[in-house]
Amino acid sequence: MLSSVRIATRQAASRGVAARGFLAIRPASTWAGVPQGPPAILGITEAFKADSFAEKINLGVGAYRDDQGKPYVLPSVRAAEGKVIEKKLNKEYAGITGVPEFTKSAALLAYGPKSTALDRVAITQSISGTGALRIGAAFLARFYPGAKKIYIPSPSWANHGAVFKDSGLEVEKYRYYNKDTIGLDFEGMIQDIAAAPKGSMFLLHACAHNPTGVDPTPEQWKEISNAIKAGEHYAFFDMAYQGFASGDTDIDAFALRYFVEQGHNPCLAQSFAKNMGLYGERIGAFSIVCADAEEKKRVDSQIKILVRPLYSNPPIHGARIASEVLNDAALYQQWLGEVKGMADRIINMRALLKKELEALGSKHDWSHITSQIGMFAYTGLTPEQMDKLAKEHSVYATKDGRISVAGITSANVKRLAAAIHAVKP
Ligand SMILES: Cc1ncc(COP(=O)(O)O)c(C=O)c1O
Repeated sequence: MLSSVRIATRQAASRGVAARGFLAIRPASTWAGVPQGPPAILGITEAFKADSFAEKINLGVGAYRDDQGKPYVLPSVRAAEGKVIEKKLNKEYAGITGVPEFTKSAALLAYGPKSTALDRVAITQSISGTGALRIGAAFLARFYPGAKKIYIPSPSWANHGAVFKDSGLEVEKYRYYNKDTIGLDFEGMIQDIAAAPKGSMFLLHACAHNPTGVDPTPEQWKEISNAIKAGEHYAFFDMAYQGFASGDTDIDAFALRYFVEQGHNPCLAQSFAKNMGLYGERIGAFSIVCADAEEKKRVDSQIKILVRPLYSNPPIHGARIASEVLNDAALYQQWLGEVKGMADRIINMRALLKKELEALGSKHDWSHITSQIGMFAYTGLTPEQMDKLAKEHSVYATKDGRISVAGITSANVKRLAAAIHAVKP
């Protein structure tokens, strides 16, 4: 405080204020030293909004849009919400680890009904996928017996590094994306897993890798599992897109389930933002596969100790909706169909974009657009080309060349292809 008074006095003196007879004793603001942070991804949305061109295209948003470019509430989710409201349930607190019917069915969805791990999974509801990652990171920071460093893919979801660092873990990258092939740097990835000190932690995107859309094949996952095992490493799966990638929740859970079958005891962050369209309800789960039921009990007690001072207990509405979808046989079947519908629309838009680019006579190989999976596509466009897309064609996306395929519609795909062709002839 004293020093800020001194600074304010000195600043006033230098402006000649003191000389004119009044002493500035008002301290500088408490937050005078807070530096301006860089603009977040929302910068794209702002630039998009400010653009008056009627046919502007926003490919920056990480949320599903229907073929009219509108946010989509899944009919199964609407129906489930109606049922929840009809029940006129009370609004008492949930327990620290959330709504039990929700967490039980979330574990079943992720690990599969045949999983041998179900009775040894410690699970807690979380504030969507981000909250799950944060609880997981805090648990690892407190209890992981090895080095408190986690390896994440290069590149990874922009928030991974921040979540892990803010939880007290060191973050290092492993090779993942090869910009020359616009595909997986599989050899690099395996080499980096092999070179990491024994017992390292690795974050793996279970499916629909964000931002690249590049996933390992099942055969490659098997080799990744072997490499993780050989290094006695620990796997932390982030599954933010189960069902959203292939359209099938079992196929998308392949990597996680395979690891468990192979004897790994991974931990998992789940999100229901994308596959149920419950973005703003913030519904997710964090789980740890334990060695046995006794270990699960101890781990569970520590998760509670960790969550309690963070937010006491999680919100109930989204959990009740998700639980209704997962536990009502008819709604569950309907939901599986709707998830497939979203995945299929994205897969179709990828194919259409590629077709339109080829129809324009593009000499580039655009096969990565259709071989990639999930909401995002890495176009391979440079920051300069992305800049041109925005400035000259009113097409907005991140500078790294990532586009949200969910923002493509039957109505705008032709114009998008023409814009891409113009900046990368
Ligand atoms: C890879 C990945 N993990 C986690 C998340 C977390 O999302 P949410 O907190 O909305 O569930 C996202 C969202 O974009 C993501 O892409």
